Amino acid sequence: MKIYFATGNPNKIKEANIILKDLKNITVEQIKCPYPEIQGTLEEVSEFGAKYVYEKIKKPIIVEDSGFFVESLNGFPGTYSKYVQETIGNEGILKLLEDKKDRTAYFKTVIGYCDENGVKLFKGTVKGKVSYKIRSKGYGFAYDSIFIPDGEDRTFAEMKTEEKSEISHRKKAFEEFKKFLCNIQ
Ligand code: IMP
Repeated sequence: MKIYFATGNPNKIKEANIILKDLKNITVEQIKCPYPEIQGTLEEVSEFGAKYVYEKIKKPIIVEDSGFFVESLNGFPGTYSKYVQETIGNEGILKLLEDKKDRTAYFKTVIGYCDENGVKLFKGTVKGKVSYKIRSKGYGFAYDSIFIPDGEDRTFAEMKTEEKSEISHRKKAFEEFKKFLCNIQ
């Protein structure tokens, strides 16, 4: 069975295929089909996107939406993660946290899958805290250089990509999706 992944980012396809590789008759293929990113939660964005793309191509499809949520900022940047990264960036987030004691944060991914039976959502979260400084060994992207996952001393950007991929929000969401695929195969 071929599942189309509506994204402009080929790395997401690679990651999905690695996680799903032991499901022999499933392949994930990229499809460039932009969908409106509505204002709302990750769940609402993914559900809307999955339905929208399915209506266009009428084949099993997934979309994925992720964000970075800082507890003491009431979940900011959350669904604005991309925009906030491109504007105030990690320095801006560290500044907003200067007088805060609570530095807990999490990444979350929601995968929206749609086929002729409708939409299903699969979620993954990784908890941790925001570092005091930007710390990177050149791995990762965006908020990776200010996020230390629980049980680690290193930021995601100080961990090799394969190490991050083992515990990431995206990996957890795809593992949930994989369980579902095992049952429908
Ligand atoms: P997307 O929905 O996966 O494209 O993620 C939206 C935004 O969240 C990205 O543009 C990044 O700023 C941020 N983000 C998502 N996942 C990660 C991650 O694994 N590391 C760092 N930043 C991330």
